[in-house]
Amino acid sequence: MTAMVKAEGVHKSFGPTHVLKGIDLEVAPREVFCLIGPSGSGKSTFLRCINHLEKINAGRLSVDGELVGYRQQGNKLYELKDREVAEKRRDIGMVFQRFNLFPHMTAIENVMEAPVQVKREAKAVARERAERLLDRVGLADKAANYPAQLSGGQQQRVAIARALAMEPKLMLFDEPTSALDPELVGDVLDVMRSLAEDGMTMIVVTHEMGFAREVGDSVVFMDDGVVVEAGHPREVLTNPRHERTKSFLSKVL
Ligand SMILES: Nc1ncnc2c1ncn2[C@@H]1O[C@H](COP(=O)(O)OP(=O)(O)OP(=O)(O)O)[C@@H](O)[C@H]1O
Ligand SMILES: [Mg+2]
Repeated sequence: MTAMVKAEGVHKSFGPTHVLKGIDLEVAPREVFCLIGPSGSGKSTFLRCINHLEKINAGRLSVDGELVGYRQQGNKLYELKDREVAEKRRDIGMVFQRFNLFPHMTAIENVMEAPVQVKREAKAVARERAERLLDRVGLADKAANYPAQLSGGQQQRVAIARALAMEPKLMLFDEPTSALDPELVGDVLDVMRSLAEDGMTMIVVTHEMGFAREVGDSVVFMDDGVVVEAGHPREVLTNPRHERTKSFLSKVL
């Protein structure tokens, strides 16, 4: 079976700052893969590399069997053109800590925007899907609201619907609940849980250890640009083998 994401010795630097120092990991199709680790350890950078937003400096990174940012012909690698990169990025949905909705568009217009603008889909088709997706995230009655008229948790659920509207094969979540008031976190996690149940492949950077334990198939603990420990959530979260993992968990649990 082809891995949905495969990283082999991935390195990334920003000028003199060496951020990813040889990341090896594999995410299987339908897997919920939780990434945890202290601030600055490189979690967001790694997600951005998967999504072609950052170029890696060394190693190999592939999504669904295809190298990120390159095309291989024989032994040679050719860098993809911007247009080709944009095309591949469409297959990957990304949800950030801040919801980044278009403020001048209603919820449903936000969800319709990419299919209509990027895929040139007919508005009626995009609207029908957007209605279905808003219903799925529990916001059928908020379709006409502007982002400013929605709570943070509702905005985040619109952002998830918006990402799903492009029918991605992989969803990346970067601390999707950490900007939310505690009472709004549960609804967003419920939506993510239902996505997981439907078999979506998901990489989730999170501080929600309960979610990682209940929904995650794997947990990876990253520190200082390396994978320190990886395994089943039960093992990593309740029985960590490494001191660094123990010390991190003692602070967040
Ligand atoms: N565009 C950039 N230019 C320079 N340095 C960067 C850039 N992006 C990230 N970094 C640096 O890379 C390191 C890792 O950052 P990253 O955002 O990946 O960490 P993180 O694990 O997501 O942290 P957090 O939990 O705080 O979100 C940090 O030291 C950061 O300052
Ligand atoms: Mg981050």
